[in-house]
Amino acid sequence: MHSDPESMRYVRFGRPETRTEVEDLVGEYIAHQTARGWTKWRLADVDGQLVGRAGFGGDDSTRGIAYAIRRSHWGRGLATEIAGALVDWHLTHAPALRLRGLVVIGNDPSARVLQKAGFVEVGTEDFHGTVCRSFVHPLVESVCQGTGNSKRPLAPEF
Ligand SMILES: CC(C)(COP(=O)(O)OP(=O)(O)OC[C@H]1O[C@@H](n2cnc3c(N)ncnc32)[C@H](O)[C@@H]1OP(=O)(O)O)[C@@H](O)C(=O)NCCC(=O)NCCS
Repeated sequence: MHSDPESMRYVRFGRPETRTEVEDLVGEYIAHQTARGWTKWRLADVDGQLVGRAGFGGDDSTRGIAYAIRRSHWGRGLATEIAGALVDWHLTHAPALRLRGLVVIGNDPSARVLQKAGFVEVGTEDFHGTVCRSFVHPLVESVCQGTGNSKRPLAPEF
């Protein structure tokens, strides 16, 4: 998946990655899982075959939802399904934390995935020099506010 130019166009460095780079990245994910209990996880079908990866980036003040599906499996609703499951996981395991979605401008399928999972667009945000569309989830926002632990003011919509 990370060696496919089309899949990588809007993620990470915007280019295909080498096996060594991906091995390093998987090492980072494993270290994050060990240290924090959350990371970006492997997605498999019922036969155990890899269909993508999904989980969270960010830190312990704001998490970012993340997903990538193998190109051979695009258009089957898998990203929408996992995005909904990740929102549920976040609400169960980290209800006091903000959860945002950042989508590079032009990645319309990903924006659609967030919208179908209940996220609402609230503006744009610079992410390491790239302008991204910024999304939040109203249910997460309300639960987060209810805890009194939110780290920054609500977006105007909420
Ligand atoms: C973005 C990505 C995760 C979508 O995965 P997917 O499993 O194909 O997505 P789904 O099948 O759940 O749904 C995609 C939605 O986007 C829509 N879509 C697809 N291509 C589109 C386009 N060019 N413009 C607008 N919407 C588009 C689909 O029609 C569908 O919406 P619908 O059900 O209302 O018709 C997948 O393309 C991918 O892995 N891309 C590379 C990695 C990536 O960009 N990750 C996101 C980083 S923010």
